[in-house]
Amino acid sequence: MAKNVVIVGVQWGDEGKGKVVDILSEHTDIVVRYQGGNNAGHTVIIDHGKFILHLIPSGILHGNKICVIGNGTVLDPLVLIEEIDTLKKSGYLRDDSHLLISNEAHLIMPYHKKLDLLKERVKGNLKIGTTGRGIGPAYEDKVARNGLRCKDLLNEEVLRQKIKTNLIEKNHILKNIYHDHGFEVHEIYYKYTEYAERLKSYITDTSTFLNNAIDEGKNILFEGAQGTLLDIDHGTYPYVTSSNAVAGEAATGSGIGPTKIDTVVGIAKAYLTRVGEGPFPTEGMGEEGDRLREQGGEFGATTGRPRRCGWFDSVAARYAVKVNGIEGLVLTKLDVLDELDKIPICTAYEYNGGRLEIFPSDNFILGDCEPIYEFMDGWKTDTKGITTFDELPQNAKAYIGRIEELVGVNVIMISVGASRKAAIMIKNPFIDM
Ligand code: GDP
Ligand code: IMO
Ligand code: MG
Repeated sequence: MAKNVVIVGVQWGDEGKGKVVDILSEHTDIVVRYQGGNNAGHTVIIDHGKFILHLIPSGILHGNKICVIGNGTVLDPLVLIEEIDTLKKSGYLRDDSHLLISNEAHLIMPYHKKLDLLKERVKGNLKIGTTGRGIGPAYEDKVARNGLRCKDLLNEEVLRQKIKTNLIEKNHILKNIYHDHGFEVHEIYYKYTEYAERLKSYITDTSTFLNNAIDEGKNILFEGAQGTLLDIDHGTYPYVTSSNAVAGEAATGSGIGPTKIDTVVGIAKAYLTRVGEGPFPTEGMGEEGDRLREQGGEFGATTGRPRRCGWFDSVAARYAVKVNGIEGLVLTKLDVLDELDKIPICTAYEYNGGRLEIFPSDNFILGDCEPIYEFMDGWKTDTKGITTFDELPQNAKAYIGRIEELVGVNVIMISVGASRKAAIMIKNPFIDM
């Protein structure tokens, strides 16, 4: 029976969603990105090398899958064109009909990128630590009903008019608030007509395409970007991204009904990382953290920034299970913990002298929470190359089991290395869930 599965980040992003989507793509016909933009960096390592995908779904490396960029995304057309070119050079996306871009997806414009950087600069200590890719300002324009959409690339007159109207306001802000020189209509118009030429064959009504595919009994995998704690509503506001990163957005951001989603799978690292500013109760591993950052390669796939590292937080994970409706958990990067003697797991927080079991998304409260740890024995064995659950060391099994107990959801896959092969599949969401 056909299945529609949503993949969602449980933590602050970079959980290894790209790798998991790549593995699960084998079992689906279509892969859809439904929110975010090129703030995302999804790494996939296969025999042909390492690919970091920012916009195109990670299923593209499977040759015969249809990849869809949904209406809930914001697209920087130049980044998308570069990504298409890189994939083509490596022998992927040979058939252009395998990539569909929603005509309702919003465009990131040059003034969005500039405003993102300038807004951060004036915030000083209160900055969010954005990726500087124009994501926030592009979503601001979407909600303000000023945005340009991919369909506007298909009509030169509409495109020019919308750029002109937007620049009246944007140049006023850029010049008078940020003392910047602003933009000329013709420079943006000229560039965007060139982009339109490159992208127009991919732009279509993807909602109708997906609904027809569902009627035909096709399997669909929805690839989330960012993570639950970066969600604009449910994350650690204001230290979040500007879109809904939770599973519910898979429906809104791709134009299908929520009743069509069969299951939601949450991706969680066996520890925790965060890029950018904002509270992070289990942060701080001392020297071990530096070692773990090196071993886990914890440097941003988009910006190269060192990621902040901390221990697994089951309070946050329980919260993510609730707001997403997660029915299965994928635990990634277990191998990064291989050498540790003791591994702390945060079971609850201490706040105001009391015990807090429920995640406070209010970032002032969260900032004052102290983690309460339980210490698990390490396994001190190399787990790389293990492909079955039975082969895992006993203490690794105990660590996984304790996470399942604390979070209340079964682990359905364990990742023990960056490559496609380094995974232990316990339950396949397309077959067993
Ligand atoms: P995403 O944004 O959720 O797709 O994750 P990123 O690609 O930004 O970050 C995850 C990083 O961890 C990438 O460099 C992956 O190659 C790597 N990775 C994924 N799974 C594993 C794993 O199980 N073990 C190790 N050592 N690395 C992994
Ligand atoms: P993937 O899909 C980790 C973070 C930024 C910043 C905040 C807001 O690879 O997991 P933005 O540019 O979105 O306005 O920045 O969100 N952020 C991510 N952190 N992984 C990501 O994506 C992220 N996308 C945005 O670091 O703190
Ligand atoms: Mg990433």
